[in-house]
Amino acid sequence: MEPSVIAEYFGDKEYMECVKDIFDSPVFQSLDNYIQHGTTTCKDHCIQVSYLGYKLSRRFGGNWRSAARAGLLHDLFLYDWHTHARETGKHFHGFTHPRTAYNNAQAYFGLSWEEGDIILRHMWPLTPIPPATKAGFAVTCADKICSTVETAARVKRWVLMCFLAQPAGR
Ligand SMILES: [Fe+2]
Ligand SMILES: [Fe+2]
Repeated sequence: MEPSVIAEYFGDKEYMECVKDIFDSPVFQSLDNYIQHGTTTCKDHCIQVSYLGYKLSRRFGGNWRSAARAGLLHDLFLYDWHTHARETGKHFHGFTHPRTAYNNAQAYFGLSWEEGDIILRHMWPLTPIPPATKAGFAVTCADKICSTVETAARVKRWVLMCFLAQPAGR
């Protein structure tokens, strides 16, 4: 993650007070062991979605506490989705992981009704039911934006590698 982004959320006292218990938990830290998109870990992805969802909620009037906490927990599915189907025979990660993340988040942290709704609906419109609140829309939008940026960074690196691998003079 960019150092400037880390400095910004660590320096945001209200944000950190709201999410500190999640940050400090071993189960959240374990998200560092899984890649989400490109070279971005699930932990960094969840932090970025949480912080952008929190900022959007502050700007547009949603419950920023729910956005910050549910954003951190929205992908708490705790497996490597790149190999999951091959190892378990369970396909459709895109459709099923919100429920898995919800169950894990409920078990480890307990969830408010809104936090639960945000996690369960964050894949909308891939899943049919949209979030019920402004904070839910903020996290859903933040997830799409962060996923696109993370994937685009990987494509950019791949294109650069292809060009840099060309022998000189060609
Ligand atoms: Fe997700
Ligand atoms: Fe996500």
